[in-house]
Amino acid sequence: MTYRTAHQNHPISLPGSPRAAQILHIQYPLPLMTDGPALNEDTTSEALRALLAEIDSALADAENAITTADSLPRLDELRINYLGKKGRLAGLNQKFGQLSAEEKPLAGRQLNNRKAEIVRIEKERREQLEAAEIRRRLEAEAIDVTLPGAAIASGHLHPLERTRREMEAIFRSMGFRVMESPEIETEWINFEALNIAADHPARDMQDTFFTERGRVLRTHTSGNQIRTMTELEPPLAIISTGKVYRCDSDVTHSPMFYQTEGYLVDKNISMGHLKGVLNAFLQSFFGANVGTRFRPSFFPFTEPSAEVDVECIFCKGSGCRVCSQTGWLEVLGCGMIHPTVLRNCGIDPENWSGFAFGVGLDRFTMLKYGINNIRLLYENDLRFLTQF
Ligand code: PHE
Repeated sequence: MTYRTAHQNHPISLPGSPRAAQILHIQYPLPLMTDGPALNEDTTSEALRALLAEIDSALADAENAITTADSLPRLDELRINYLGKKGRLAGLNQKFGQLSAEEKPLAGRQLNNRKAEIVRIEKERREQLEAAEIRRRLEAEAIDVTLPGAAIASGHLHPLERTRREMEAIFRSMGFRVMESPEIETEWINFEALNIAADHPARDMQDTFFTERGRVLRTHTSGNQIRTMTELEPPLAIISTGKVYRCDSDVTHSPMFYQTEGYLVDKNISMGHLKGVLNAFLQSFFGANVGTRFRPSFFPFTEPSAEVDVECIFCKGSGCRVCSQTGWLEVLGCGMIHPTVLRNCGIDPENWSGFAFGVGLDRFTMLKYGINNIRLLYENDLRFLTQF
């Protein structure tokens, strides 16, 4: 067969298939870059045709593999396999010995030209793969500014602190001042001035923590009455929240807990004022419809004294486990300030009278949030705290 190429006027005879040429995107038949004598079937040896066929198929394989290489490492491998020093194309050089001196340069040029073509294809494929790699990385590292931001975990108030603030807000709204007093108190302030005699059971070693220097960790916040009434002139309306300590520990008692103390001293203050203020407070805290009841009780520093119950907020008064089937929950102690206490603070009980009350902050918090173990309030376990 004799072919004439488009850009060369040499009639050449070449083996190989049009299909290979199609895959290689090269002109078929292969243009033979030669300045030498024209080749045709008569002048082409069997050995040359065989070698050209081999070059043809090696190159077809090479291009096929290179254009479909899907990664840079794979491409490196192919380059070594085909174009490397010991590669398939280099192997073809060794077969040149079978050719005549005249044919050698022809086959050599043919091989070199086609090899240059493969080098170009390899470079092109490399650029494509590198560009794809850059694109892939850019996409992987791209920031989607439309995504919602990651929320920053922030803390919130402890349920006890929430209760304290809520209580203070209610009493402030009724004109009370918020004050503080120390946790380590003298026996006078914690007991004597409050009309608690030396042999009162509350002073028992089991209830009270004494310091080595004979002070006490306050067992209640009522000492605040003594401190502020001694320092300030009536009329007074003060509440004070803080830690108190008693040697006691079970699911409803902790050796340290919180109380809020409140009192009011003015002219002609009666039990009616006490009930009015506490009802307003309890209904504001637990809900406007909550029922309350005042039961006679005893405290050395108030006379008369009462304990206040609210209708059980769990069963609405019908009786449940929390209220021991009574329908009522005891929430605070209160009473009219004992004249001895007023006198101990330099206030004349003939001119002034007042009421006082003490609230367990822990109990209020437990009732409000349905917590059944006081220790949960002090363990700082986030699994518990984040529920509020
Ligand atoms: N201090 C009392 C207690 O701790 C409560 C209380 C305060 C009672 C004020 C009456 C008046 O139990």
